[in-house]
Order: sequence, then C-alpha cells, then structure tokens
Amino acid sequence: MKTIIGNWKLNKTPLEAKNDIKTIFDYSSEKKINSSVFIAPPHPYLGYLSDIYPQYSSQILSQNSQEFLKGAYTGHISPKMLHDMKVKGSLVGHSECRYMNTDEGISHTLSSLEEESLLCVLCIGESLEEKKSNQGLKKLTHQIKTNISHTPLKGKLMIAYEPIWAIGTGLTASLEEIQNTLEHISKVLSEKSLNVPLIYGGSVDENNISEICSLPKVDGVLVGGKSLDPQYFIKMIQKLL
Ligand code: 13P
Repeated sequence: MKTIIGNWKLNKTPLEAKNDIKTIFDYSSEKKINSSVFIAPPHPYLGYLSDIYPQYSSQILSQNSQEFLKGAYTGHISPKMLHDMKVKGSLVGHSECRYMNTDEGISHTLSSLEEESLLCVLCIGESLEEKKSNQGLKKLTHQIKTNISHTPLKGKLMIAYEPIWAIGTGLTASLEEIQNTLEHISKVLSEKSLNVPLIYGGSVDENNISEICSLPKVDGVLVGGKSLDPQYFIKMIQKLL
C-alpha cells in the first residue's frame, strides 16, 4: 500500500479545514485505506482538528516542528505539543521551512520526535542550480548524513525526496530521475543500516501519480497544491487503490 500526504501549507480557513479533512478521511476510512492517507494542515488547526475528529488524529501531521520540547522559543512548535495534541507526527526540513532550521537542528528535531514516538517525514531536495551543476546527489547525501546524525531511529522515519525546482512549478522530475535518485538515497541510508519508506513530492497530480507510484522505489507521494481541493485529492487517492 502506498502513502499519500497532503501538505496544505498556508491555506484554508478553519471552517474549510474542518470540512475538507472530514471529506477526505471519511472517504479513505470507508475504503479502509486510512493508515496511508495523511494531511498536514496549518499549525493553528492541529489541536482543534485532532479534538473534533479523534478517530482521524493518527492521520494528521504537522508541517514542521522544532527540536526544543519547551522553553523561551517564541513562535516555535515542539514535538511534545504534537504528542499532547495526539497527532501522528511531522514533516521536517521542508525546503520552505529550512530557513528556520539548521541541518544540526533538524537532526535534533528528529531525535525529539522519536522521543515522543512521533512519525517524522524528513524532506530533502536539491535546488535547480545544484541540479544544473550536477551537485544534486551530493546535496542529498549531505542532507541525509547531517539530518540523521543524532538519532537511533527506531522505525518512525520516512524520507520525502522533493526537488526544490519541482515544487509548485508544474515541473516533475522524470521517472528515471526519481528512480535513480531514490536508489541513491537508499544506498546512503543502507550505509547507516536504515531501510525506510521513500516518497516523492513536487508537482504530483492526478495525471502523473500512478506512474510515479508504479516505480519500484516509490512508497508514496507528498502533494502540495493538488491536495487543496478535497474532491481532486480523493481522485488522486483512487489512483492508488
Ligand atoms: P506541489 O505539489 O504544490 O508541487 O508541492 C509539493 C510540496 O511542497 C509538498 O510538500
């Protein structure tokens, strides 16, 4: 079974979030595929959504998290808070959040999430400049090695390969690029004796989701823009059935 995560980023009113998450999870639970469908709503809605839909809280992810469990860190969100809100886990290291986190900090965040028994979806990816100068794989290797340096990772990790140039641009990495890159990521992980699910993100839509998910290395997808319309997102989920 494949995983599909909808990352809502900075979108939706509270009412839209309440209605749309119900539409999506009612559908996936009816089809008995709830364990593999996740939504990452904006932070202010996490506790509210988890409270009103306790049956779906294990399918709700945070869009980011910091390493600190508590303290004088204005504007931050801690793994402990996520645990207390009973959500499943968090995306970490998304390219749109990395300006707030160092590689070292991300590594500590992974440890903190693990301490709270939360799922961590570590996002990595290269920029267009890095791709053009053939530095893409080097960048990914660096991100994996630095971001996974502080944690024993007992099993709640997933890695999302999201080339920055493919996010929100309508440009998707070719199937060959995705397959080769995920093979490289697997190899780097195997040097750390890690074997974790790998997913792809970057302009995934209903037309390309099937072929991307048919690649042997792909365990699922991380969807941004095309997860916002619940009926469209459900069509994407149907392609994975
Ligand atoms: P898009 O699907 O809009 O390209 O966004 C991908 C993404 O950043 C998901 O985290």
